Amino acid sequence: MTPELQEAGAAQLAAAQARLQEASSGGRDAAFGRVLHGAQPDFAHGVALYLDEITVSFDGFKALNALSLAINVGELRCIIGPNGAGKTTMMDVITGKTRPDHGTASFGSNIDLLRLRENDIAQIGIGRKFQKPTVYEQLSVFENLELALKADRRVRASIFSRLTGTQLDRIAEILQLIHLLPEAQRTAGLLSHGQKQWLEIGMLLMQDPKLLLLDEPVAGMTDEETERTAELFLSLEGQHSLVVVEHDMKFVGELTQGWKKVTVLHEGSVLAEGTLADVQSNEKVVEVYLGR
Ligand SMILES: Nc1ncnc2c1ncn2[C@@H]1O[C@H](COP(=O)(O)OP(=O)(O)O)[C@@H](O)[C@H]1O
Ligand SMILES: [Mg+2]
Repeated sequence: MTPELQEAGAAQLAAAQARLQEASSGGRDAAFGRVLHGAQPDFAHGVALYLDEITVSFDGFKALNALSLAINVGELRCIIGPNGAGKTTMMDVITGKTRPDHGTASFGSNIDLLRLRENDIAQIGIGRKFQKPTVYEQLSVFENLELALKADRRVRASIFSRLTGTQLDRIAEILQLIHLLPEAQRTAGLLSHGQKQWLEIGMLLMQDPKLLLLDEPVAGMTDEETERTAELFLSLEGQHSLVVVEHDMKFVGELTQGWKKVTVLHEGSVLAEGTLADVQSNEKVVEVYLGR
């Protein structure tokens, strides 16, 4: 690393540490932190996420309209539907970015997501990947993963402390998983669009989320990158629950392997559920989405 890069990296790390301290010092929202204290999501019933009758209105327009949905522990669920169907708004509700007017949302059988702040929701094991990759461009691939690890409040490591052997192993494991082991020392800004997407997924994985939300993850990827992303998601299935919003039907086909359930959203609620073949031959689905 050049001195400039080192300086930029140190500044990023210091900023992250300041955010960490702020997050753990309580303050105005400390009561919410206490709600979380010691509470672990209970997955004994096999359900990772449960949305019931969620309604979100924007000036009277219902972006979500009594949406109900359940995702099982370890399940890989694809969600499709036309633009404006409410897919992103659904992720906003799950991650605490948008508060619904009505309905309930729980993580496991016991954690009420609607009472938690965005930060706390990330900390209890829900990771979200936005469409645009947001990696630290001037840091190396390795440093991006290191930063993600140390930003995890559960780790309680100082940003400047040295990594333990276990932590190094974990970073190496993730690098391999996201196909970036040979690029570990490369500056993230020099990666291809697809590689940046993988790096961001890797950063989410550093915090070992139970549930991963992925909004149009293969948009802008090459065919080869798309295929590798499908392999990556399939390898995560089982250990994590994944909710994947995507328009690329070939990709959805690779993920669902002919048998997994696909959910079709339309006008803020579930229009159809079934295998990809089921929903592709559903007249209502063809009319509002696939047939256009
Ligand atoms: N903050 C907002 N204010 C007003 N309308 C919004 C807002 N966010 C989303 N919407 C509207 O809600 C609907 C659902 O949007 P969105 O969840 O982004 O759909 P999708 O991701 O399925 O394309 C759209 O009609 C969109 O214009
Ligand atoms: Mg969207």
